Order: sequence, then structure tokens, then C-alpha cells
Amino acid sequence: MNMTMKSFNAKPWILPQPVLIIGTYDNDGKPNAMNAAWGGQWDMNEIMISLGSHATTDNLKVNDGFTVAFATVGTMVAADYVGIVSGRNTPDKMQKAGWTAQKAPNVNAPVFMELPMTMECRVKEKLDESESGYNLVAEIVNVLCDEKYLDLDGNPDVEKMELITYNPVQHTYIQLGKTVGKAFSDGAKLK
Ligand SMILES: Cc1cc2nc3c(=O)[nH]c(=O)nc-3n(C[C@H](O)[C@H](O)[C@H](O)COP(=O)(O)O)c2cc1C
Repeated sequence: MNMTMKSFNAKPWILPQPVLIIGTYDNDGKPNAMNAAWGGQWDMNEIMISLGSHATTDNLKVNDGFTVAFATVGTMVAADYVGIVSGRNTPDKMQKAGWTAQKAPNVNAPVFMELPMTMECRVKEKLDESESGYNLVAEIVNVLCDEKYLDLDGNPDVEKMELITYNPVQHTYIQLGKTVGKAFSDGAKLK
């Protein structure tokens, strides 16, 4: 092994990590949001999120619908807030976050209007479920995007949304940068 490489042992350092905002309703239809970085694409129309025990998981016991939105530079402070405060003991959590909740068209869950892109999801499986949480596998039912953030082809414009990613090494948020290449295409130069 090249000794200029430093070892850090096992770390949860997949990079980059998303800043997912999970939106749920409780039994009375009251909206809640939490921040989750340990999630990603699982299958063509499925996602996975590793969840501890939260107000969000209480809500997912009574509602199998939820939303997943993507945090942005403009929503960063509130996105971090919903990741450090629990709806279990802070009844005005969403008032403090300052987001406007509207019911999603296809699932029983809130869409937060300040976040540009939202997936409507339905619980499919709770893998390795225990007292302390589970790995949630969910179906993507629909994707919503604020029309302000569409490109000329009518697709979500990822650069325009100013998405942020979570840096698990320094525990910071980093803004996604500019487009540098074309996937499934630029590598063809080396064929
Ligand atoms: C950057 C960041 C990433 C987080 N990622 C996760 C995660 O992947 N899974 C998880 O269970 N909790 C994660 N959390 C913690 C929850 O967001 C936090 O416990 C929150 O208060 C739960 O809210 P609730 O109890 O209202 O549902 C994360 C928090 C932050 C700030």
C-alpha cells in the first residue's frame, strides 16, 4: 500500500450525501419534517432511508405516505433545524421552521412549498426493524417540481435549485456546483 494514504478505519463517509427532508402527517393531520442524509436510490422507482426512532417514524406507523424533498441553500437553516429538534417534544417545530405545508396530491403527506422538488412516496418495507429504527424502502409514487425551477425542456433544473449536500466528514453543508460533463457520454472518448 502506498504509505501516503492515511487510514481512518470504518466511517459513514459515503460522499456526497443528500440532504433529504422527510415530510409526514401525524394521526391528527399535523405536518412534521425531519432531515435525513443516509438515503438514496434503491431501485428504479424505489428509495431507501436509514431511520432511527423519531416523530417521523411514529407518523409512519399511522400513515404509509410521506414526502422526500431536497434541501437548498435558501432553506438550509430550517433544514438543519428540522434535523436537530424533534416533533416529539417541540409541538411548534414546523412554525419555527417556517415552511408552508400543503397536502400532496397522491399520498397523505405534506409538501413544503419552500422546497423546489418533492418526491411523493409510500412505505414498501421496513427492513431490520427494531426499537432503534429500521431501513425504510419506499416506492416513489410521483415527483413534483416547482415550475420556477424547470429548464427549457420542462425538466427540473438541478443547478437552478441550488441544492445542498451533507459532508459527513466536517459535518457541513456544501452547495452542489456546476455541471462539468455529460454522463454515459464523455467516457466514450476513451473507447
Ligand atoms: C445533517 C443531518 C442528517 C441526518 N440524517 C439522519 C438520517 O439519515 N437518519 C435518521 O434517522 N436521522 C437523521 N438525522 C436526525 C433527525 O433529523 C433528527 O433526529 C430529527 O430531530 C428527527 O425529527 P422528528 O423526531 O421530528 O421526526 C439527521 C440530522 C441531520 C442534522
